[in-house]
Amino acid sequence: PKRILIDCDPGIDDALALALAHGSPELDVMGLTTVGGNTDLDRTTENARCLADYYGLVVPVVRGAGRPLVRAPRTARDVHGESGLGGVLLPPATTPPDDRHAVDFIVDALAAAPGEISLVAVGPLTNIALALHKEPRIAEWAAEFVVMGGSYTRGNNTPAAEFNIAADPEAAAVAFDAPWRPVMIGLDLTHQARANAEVRTRFRGLGRLETELISPCLDFYGQHPSYRDGGPAIHDACAVAYVIAPELFRTAPARVDVETWGRFTSGMTVTDFAAPEPNTDVATDLAADRFWDLVTEAFTRVAEH
Ligand code: BDR
Ligand code: CA
Repeated sequence: PKRILIDCDPGIDDALALALAHGSPELDVMGLTTVGGNTDLDRTTENARCLADYYGLVVPVVRGAGRPLVRAPRTARDVHGESGLGGVLLPPATTPPDDRHAVDFIVDALAAAPGEISLVAVGPLTNIALALHKEPRIAEWAAEFVVMGGSYTRGNNTPAAEFNIAADPEAAAVAFDAPWRPVMIGLDLTHQARANAEVRTRFRGLGRLETELISPCLDFYGQHPSYRDGGPAIHDACAVAYVIAPELFRTAPARVDVETWGRFTSGMTVTDFAAPEPNTDVATDLAADRFWDLVTEAFTRVAEH
């Protein structure tokens, strides 16, 4: 299996992305790092630990940056609830907290296995930028770098910017400018992965995983005005799915620059598909039906553990 390190801010769709990763035999999750984002760092870290325990995923859960590089923190509690997991209440975490820092963990993990670990970021890019500053060679060592963030059309946090990029544009600029080739799984892609009524019928029969976690998460998430028609977009799971099955995605090379100066456009991922020197592979099309097959199979394995 491919080894994967996931930097996350759970977060409802983060929670589902972790279940997809853990339930997929193609992947070996070697660690989770946390960042402040959807809610504060204490909560995202606690949520990651509780989710790992609940899924039976035994890995280090390592706490990272609690605030963006430069800006004041912004959260998405309107979308994910105060706790970050809507109304879901999981048993308290039993795995002891890991006392390393996420930035050290990322650098050390990639240094120890150059070319072997897929790095996936599904929260603001603060830890990734700090890790790049601490050890620029992580850009060579990561087998691939997949980001859920950005968009080449519209934003969700603001008209111009997607949340993970808007929350820490300076960090995102560092991450996109580094000498690796990010795969951008932006909103244009993730809005093709919506948990509508048909999709939700696939999750029936998953027992407690469905009744205690998936359904309450999706009910809460689906109430958001932008998701009322068509169901919520399960953004972060798309980034994990890309590592499992890149053949389900069409991508196009583009130059992506992160706007850090704009009065109204801060955090925008300015995407030029015609640029002579592309720096990113931007995901454009998803084979949604096959994506949901992958997700359902993975959830079934997690439910059976
Ligand atoms: C991204 O923002 C967060 O709210 C979600 O967890 C996802 O990572 C979508 O814009
Ligand atoms: Ca997230």
